[in-house]
Amino acid sequence: MPSTCYEHRPLHVAIIMDGNGRWATRRGLPRIAGHSAGAEAVERVVEAAPKLGIRSLTLFAFASDNWKRPPAEVRGIFALVERFVKRAVTQCVEEGIEVRAVGRRDRLPDALRAAIEETEALTRNGKRLTLRFAIDYSSRDALVSAASIAGADGGSREAFAYSLAMAYGEPGRRLPDVDLLIRTAGEQRLSDFLLWESAYAEIHFTRVLWPDFGEAALRTAMLDFEQRHRTFGGLSAYDAAAQTPLTTELEWRPA
Ligand code: IPE
Ligand code: IPE
Ligand code: MG
Repeated sequence: MPSTCYEHRPLHVAIIMDGNGRWATRRGLPRIAGHSAGAEAVERVVEAAPKLGIRSLTLFAFASDNWKRPPAEVRGIFALVERFVKRAVTQCVEEGIEVRAVGRRDRLPDALRAAIEETEALTRNGKRLTLRFAIDYSSRDALVSAASIAGADGGSREAFAYSLAMAYGEPGRRLPDVDLLIRTAGEQRLSDFLLWESAYAEIHFTRVLWPDFGEAALRTAMLDFEQRHRTFGGLSAYDAAAQTPLTTELEWRPA
């Protein structure tokens, strides 16, 4: 598939930005230096994403399970996110980027929560890209909340997706399904990220550490995605075409 085939582009890309600590440790630096370098990678990827046809980008910035880390590291990460959302706001407005956060807000420092809410308000008309930060985010916790919103019968899949949006604090609009899920730094697990939305996501694992990630690594992931055959449980166009009317009508029985 040529890389210019726009229709085959992943429109919703989600990234588990991992490897900041290892990046710093390898340089003899404190872990927070890795998170700081990671924030620069976020800038590069946000800049590149709309040019590559990505319409929705969800970045895992802080997992609810990351509260298990030392308080100083947690404070450092929150300070970096706050600085990012404050500094990026003007550029995001100019470039049509809508910034949102998903996850619990009640445990965030007041200054971070206020910065997020201000940036969300100022960027809400952005149409080129929706950039979501998952902060104090746990997919399982979100599913539990959505289940209690949905009620006993849960409703249809579509209705449940809206309950999930309510749980995320985004009533009336739902997170699109993930087309391409990227995890950096070599681990091959989901770590409680977007479990519902990634039901049919193509997954790209790369050994690149997050602070080293940028447009080139994103393009590599996109090219990998473009080689995939997504069938969502059905048949590929090739397999469907290979069935002659005769073979499809034949009833096959096990010997
Ligand atoms: C990911 O990098 C960033 C966050 C979890 C906030 P890590 O901090 O997990 O980096 P490693 O996995 O220790 O290298
Ligand atoms: C996942 O990375 C969370 C984020 C990237 C924010 P972790 O480094 O926390 O995940 P595990 O511990 O390797 O599963
Ligand atoms: Mg990690």
